[in-house]
Amino acid sequence: MTGSQRMSTLETTQAYLERHHGGDGALAAKRTLESHQRNHDAHFQAFWNQHVNLSSEATCHLVDLGCGPGLFLKDLQQRYPNARLTGIECAPYMLNQVDKLPDAIQIKVADLNTDLPELFAVNSLDVALANRLIHELHQPVSLFRNLFHWLKPGGVFILVDMVRQPLKSYLTHELKGASLTDSTLTDVQLLATFQHYLEHNRYHSQDLCDLLTMCGFELLASESIRSGRAVQIAVRKP
Ligand SMILES: C[S@@+](CC[C@H](N)C(=O)[O-])C[C@H]1O[C@@H](n2cnc3c(N)ncnc32)[C@H](O)[C@@H]1O
Repeated sequence: MTGSQRMSTLETTQAYLERHHGGDGALAAKRTLESHQRNHDAHFQAFWNQHVNLSSEATCHLVDLGCGPGLFLKDLQQRYPNARLTGIECAPYMLNQVDKLPDAIQIKVADLNTDLPELFAVNSLDVALANRLIHELHQPVSLFRNLFHWLKPGGVFILVDMVRQPLKSYLTHELKGASLTDSTLTDVQLLATFQHYLEHNRYHSQDLCDLLTMCGFELLASESIRSGRAVQIAVRKP
């Protein structure tokens, strides 16, 4: 692929993400910062502890895919002070919110929709995380194939994401109980709601497990969270 093709892919992805994030990137970044604790809550921490077997002293390489403003990388640095930590992100408004980082943390700008074999060396990563990234990708297989090359044998990939749910349960949650007969609910709001539904309900949890095993990974665990609206999955490269 030529440089100019990669550039146009990155720009297309950035434009898609800005629309997906509601058209206001700065607000999306603010919300991501505000929801950091909730999206890395006790369920997530327990799942991480169960499947990531690294001592706090380990010299290892951990990667946060779709790292947003990079807060989880800072959490990881507290926990694994000897680790090399890399975030991957491509939305300018998320990157703008990244504070000054310690030397151990690096954020690389890359489009995870594309094949990126050169981003990390083969068999070099200990753990990779994708927390609510996968539903934002055009397709996840390129990333899963790349991860299979980048992770060391025995390396772990943790995936957390929204999964398919019945439309009624989605609408009840999104509209916070408002009735569909409510005349203040406009066509514009309904259109945005249905677009959002399609983009956040792309995969059943089983689909994600199947895609990962079809890409060569061994399933360690798949756990339903948020009353079935999301899943956390751990896989291992054999
Ligand atoms: C829902 S946010 C979650 C951010 C962070 N992981 C967290 O849990 O707070 C998803 C992030 O993935 C990034 N992202 C989505 N598609 C991407 C792509 N193709 N390449 C790189 N980053 C991407 C978005 O810009 C966004 O920052």
